[in-house]
Amino acid sequence: MNSLDQIRRDLCQTYVAMGGSGLIFLAAGNVSARHGERMLISPAGASVASITPEAFVECDFAGSATDGSKPSSEWAMHSAIYEAFPHAHAVVHTHSNYCVAMAATGEPLPAFHYMVASFGGDDVRCTPYVPWATPALAKAAVVALEGRTACLLGNHGMISHGKSLLAAFNAALRLETLCMQYVLARQAGVVRTLSAEHMRAANTRYASYG
Ligand code: 13P
Repeated sequence: MNSLDQIRRDLCQTYVAMGGSGLIFLAAGNVSARHGERMLISPAGASVASITPEAFVECDFAGSATDGSKPSSEWAMHSAIYEAFPHAHAVVHTHSNYCVAMAATGEPLPAFHYMVASFGGDDVRCTPYVPWATPALAKAAVVALEGRTACLLGNHGMISHGKSLLAAFNAALRLETLCMQYVLARQAGVVRTLSAEHMRAANTRYASYG
């Protein structure tokens, strides 16, 4: 089996795991992995029920596939992340419930829990609303991701990247859980946030964790 076949299998496994974790429903989500100056990405309108390793589309960063097949409509957002962040090797985009709920407020996820620092800062930024599948959304995501591994997409969802598929997937799952916990905390009362100093200390710990 060559490395391309292995990447296809890993992508397919990750896409199915995204479905199994409740991060995607129907076609609301996509996943990609960098392959040199190209990427492999889920096809437009994929579904957990029918996805196969062969269905993943190999294309360049302009979204053009050698065999003419159609990459995810969000290919530009994935490409822009690979181009802006050389350490990004995989990207996950979802419309998971609590990320969508937070992103509908337009607010960043604040430092209500030290684990927010795992994304690289003391909050998780939220882009303004930008129409889906556009170059403008790709630009907005890159701005919100500066120094971070995940951001919320205003009135849309979330996107994360990582040095591996597992890292990008885990970031998506962690952000969904933290957004759920923050929504619950807001229902419980007035939320106390952590100081910049506490978040810096948490961030330093994450740098040598795992
Ligand atoms: P695709 O089915 O084209 O990947 O896109 C769905 C989506 O998540 C749009 O934001």
